[in-house]
Amino acid sequence: MNISIASDHAGFEQKQELAAYLRELGHQVADLGPETDDRVDYPDFAALVARDVAAGAAERGVLVCGTGIGMAVAANKVRGIRAANVTTPEFAALAREHNDANVVALSGRFVDGETNRRILDAFLSTDFGGGRHAGRVQKIAELEED
Ligand code: RB5
Repeated sequence: MNISIASDHAGFEQKQELAAYLRELGHQVADLGPETDDRVDYPDFAALVARDVAAGAAERGVLVCGTGIGMAVAANKVRGIRAANVTTPEFAALAREHNDANVVALSGRFVDGETNRRILDAFLSTDFGGGRHAGRVQKIAELEED
């Protein structure tokens, strides 16, 4: 799967580790930065990943900041993005099954690396459930027309 990943300084270390993990699993990973843990602004990097996913250059996006909250808020401003701030593998599966999330926003400061790897496993392996969830996701898309 083509996956774009980025972080801010607070998520940098886990972003490096998670990008390597995804490559080990055989995914094509575009690391959109940053290249160091120098202080940066998370919306700049959320935008890079969100635009890749919205344009179809990546099938899924992964963002890491201190909490994951800022990354999710920023990514969700891009049309077509459904970013979920996730702290457990169970929520990752539900974000895919119920919400058809196409971006996952992770916490580099409050969630350990092993848990984040399990979150990615669930996020990448769970299909959207469709059915009753499809109409709800369609209503989310319609909000973008307001
Ligand atoms: C950076 O200090 C921090 O605000 C950021 O990583 C993130 O947690 C924002 O939501």
